Amino acid sequence: MMVKKICIVVVLLLSSAVKAQVKDWENPAVVGMNKLPYHATLQQPSKWKECGEIMSLDGEWLFRWSKDPESRPAEFYREDYDVSQWGRIKVPGNWQLQGYGRPIYVNMQYPFHRDRPRVTGEPPQDWYAHDHRNPVGSYVTFIEVNREMLSKDLILHFGGVHSAFYVWINGQQVGYSQNSMSPAEFDITKYVRSGRNKIAVEVYRWSDGSYLECQDMWRLSGIFREVQLWVRPLVHIVDYKVEAIPNADFSQAAVTADIFMCNTGKKKARNLTVAFCVDGKTMEGKLKSLSPGDTTSIKLSCVLNHPRLWSAEQPALYPFSINLNDKSGVIEHFDNHLGVKRVECVGEVFKINGKNVKLRGVNRHDHHPVTGRFVDDKTYEQDIALMKQANINFLRTSHYPDREYLYELCDRWGIYVMDEANQESHGYGYANRELGEDPAWKDAHVDRAVSLVQRDKNHPCVIFWSLGNEGGVGPNLKAMREAVVSLDTIALPFCDTDRSQSDIYDDSYLPPAKLEEEAKRVSDRPFMMREYAHAMGNSVGNFQEYWDVIYADSSICGAAIWDWIDQGLSPTPSRDEREAFGNNGSDKAHLLPSITGGDAFLYGGDFGDRPNDGAFCINGLVAPDRTPHPHYYEVQHVYQPLQFVRDPDGLISIINHDSFTDPAEYDITYDTVTIDGEQLLNIAARLKEDKPWAPKGFAVASEQFVLTPYAFPLSVSSGSSAGATTSLPGITIDGNRLTSWIVDGEEMLRAPLEPYFWKPENDNQHAAGFARRTAMWREVRDVAVSYTPISDRRILVEVDYSPTSEEEAPPIPKFGMRMRLPADYTDIRYYGRGPWENYPDRKRSAFLGQYRMALSQFETEYIHPQDNGCRTDVRWFNIGNGRNTLRIVGLQPLCIRAWDYGEEDLEQAAHPWDIQRGRFVNLNIDLNIHGVGGIDTWGQRTLPQYTIPANKPHHYSFIIEAVKAPIP
Ligand code: GAL
Ligand code: MG
Repeated sequence: MMVKKICIVVVLLLSSAVKAQVKDWENPAVVGMNKLPYHATLQQPSKWKECGEIMSLDGEWLFRWSKDPESRPAEFYREDYDVSQWGRIKVPGNWQLQGYGRPIYVNMQYPFHRDRPRVTGEPPQDWYAHDHRNPVGSYVTFIEVNREMLSKDLILHFGGVHSAFYVWINGQQVGYSQNSMSPAEFDITKYVRSGRNKIAVEVYRWSDGSYLECQDMWRLSGIFREVQLWVRPLVHIVDYKVEAIPNADFSQAAVTADIFMCNTGKKKARNLTVAFCVDGKTMEGKLKSLSPGDTTSIKLSCVLNHPRLWSAEQPALYPFSINLNDKSGVIEHFDNHLGVKRVECVGEVFKINGKNVKLRGVNRHDHHPVTGRFVDDKTYEQDIALMKQANINFLRTSHYPDREYLYELCDRWGIYVMDEANQESHGYGYANRELGEDPAWKDAHVDRAVSLVQRDKNHPCVIFWSLGNEGGVGPNLKAMREAVVSLDTIALPFCDTDRSQSDIYDDSYLPPAKLEEEAKRVSDRPFMMREYAHAMGNSVGNFQEYWDVIYADSSICGAAIWDWIDQGLSPTPSRDEREAFGNNGSDKAHLLPSITGGDAFLYGGDFGDRPNDGAFCINGLVAPDRTPHPHYYEVQHVYQPLQFVRDPDGLISIINHDSFTDPAEYDITYDTVTIDGEQLLNIAARLKEDKPWAPKGFAVASEQFVLTPYAFPLSVSSGSSAGATTSLPGITIDGNRLTSWIVDGEEMLRAPLEPYFWKPENDNQHAAGFARRTAMWREVRDVAVSYTPISDRRILVEVDYSPTSEEEAPPIPKFGMRMRLPADYTDIRYYGRGPWENYPDRKRSAFLGQYRMALSQFETEYIHPQDNGCRTDVRWFNIGNGRNTLRIVGLQPLCIRAWDYGEEDLEQAAHPWDIQRGRFVNLNIDLNIHGVGGIDTWGQRTLPQYTIPANKPHHYSFIIEAVKAPIP
């Protein structure tokens, strides 16, 4: 008897313990509760403001942050719970960027204890998550509801919430959602009353959903996209899918609009008409009645004759509208557009509208330095305009769906889109089986595919549905693909990890030669690199080499650069905001006072975030504030649709890499300039008219040809051999170093002119062990140099290097000399490649010209400090202080770098503000420099043709001259 009782108690304890343990947010079987089905963006985002059905709930909400679920105000949703003393937060936004908790930047790992589906296990002690086991944001706002609204259907719409959340209205629980990058909608009609209503939202930083959101990015939380209240008629349109399918010869397109309606009222709706208007035609469907609680659909179709086709080059759109009417008139009206296009794989060739289009791509994270994961419309416009200007025609929304407006812009301005599902489980390894095969995670995978396609299915810009990035392999990926193709057959399914589920074969970050080889080997479908040219720091070398391979092989459909924006953060709360953070559980310690309020950009670890992956998030073509980096221009040049070729007779022909645009659509302009006897021809193809992304006259393609080459001065040393020196007053030479040069009583040198072969690493080189491999060159100085005074202000410098031993020495980081000038030498004028930074493996976009700029512009300030600022093919270089000028004239092309700091300052700095500046001007005058590299930032080296072999002799010379005048 006794024994029995004990057993019962134990069982009871166990079951309640189990019950308490399984939280919705640690249970992959629960991906949502009471969510309305995913559906298309009903009204075009640019028209949201004028749409009478949409009430924006964006603005300041009341907020409380808790470091873990235990300490959250669990009952805050109750009507009688006093929130009047709570802090404020901007919605949309991320709480970590408004003073609550810390951003964490990690690449591949989960920043919490990995133990799916749980997220609150104990991680290592020094991890942020150790003492912040799963922070919770509790949000409250109030809305006024009037009688008229009460007669309608009220739908609460969240554009994106990271990572999981509950919603209550007036103390009653409405629902729950995960899948943070897709909209979540709830019908709140029955919870709402006339007057003031309380909306309470409880957001969890981590959830089981986080196991599928292990993307390489800042891990940020909160209600980060718009919140809307849709005030809808009881009978309304719930979804529509509009397809425009061209026939074989594109002479016609079959348009069908599948329109879904529901009746949320209590009365039968009668005599409904649905009208679909496109291209001057109106198609109508009649519905005798729709019963309460029912949903039905109507299919309307028409044919477009001789349709204009949609492509990124010619984004022809057909605006359409959908109206729902009853006897009394229009109930609902939505505007949108369609595009006619065909995307297909014909054997191993990828085609758009029958043409072997090349995808000149880029990957983009939805990132803003101040607002984090929320990117406003203006910034979207800036991004897409800058992409179009860089001749980018393909965008991968790595690694999740972006805000709706971005897709509208791509439709309108013309960008092909790989729309990616919010699915990455990299923390279990690339192509893992844990998540790919576990049946308990199937629904969670499929939910992410369905939400992707359902929202974006009507966008002409979408050409691929990507099942995610760096996730699993197995049945769960297969189920995702099946879901995608059941919902849409126009765009093609793509998958990186499970190739059996992908219409395109992807392999990424291959060096050009390997790309050529692999693309030849794979013959069952088109080939692409969904990521390549890792643009971290000073990068994107050998970019033309890639495109020589891609253009030569019709089975390679293209490649997308990693990536668009440096993901630096610049949290800049105003003083008021900071004071507001003072109470209410905020954790503002990370807002480093010395660097907030400026345009400083922070990366992983700067917030005290542990674990972190440092500066690995700084891989953009543009800075966080969208300022283009020097390598942006190289991309623009190599991606240009027209290539100019000059034959030996001087005839220039144009190769057109576009498929739907005649070169005659551009104005071809040219001009010849002569600089110091060198005659240059600059040719450009310019827009004939304004585009939304660039003005008339903008050059979409350009090239430079040398008609008459520059005559480098012949050696004036009349036979002096290297190592010999002649002395002159004011000049002190010590061995192979010029240690003092006094001109008019002023010392020109802050440090000697001497042989110097070292250069600091850039990020690519660091990963490839460059400093370690080439360390011996740091100290090497013993090279023969001769100084030959030509006059009392001009010295000829000649440098000679011959390999000393037969042994393999590592490549020379740079071959040349260094000197330091007084700090006020900050005016620069030179004749060489520019105006932007260029290196031997990244100089095609930098044309020869005479450029004038301040030293601060000559330098490139990288967020993660590294070697920078080179100008190649320099004929002469002037640097002055407003009174005097130092002039350097090459006897062959030179590479020049000038900084207001030294190599040692740069190598110690983690951020630009760490660099000690202004003591001198550091000037490197080189024959050659190691290329920047352009494959990846985890080991690949600079291509051998852009390195300097140590086992060959090198010789070069230049003249230095002190001029007693400001630079001309
Ligand atoms: C890729 C990955 C990206 C990013 C990149 C490195 O493999 O898909 O998300 O991590 O490497 O910057
Ligand atoms: Mg990853």
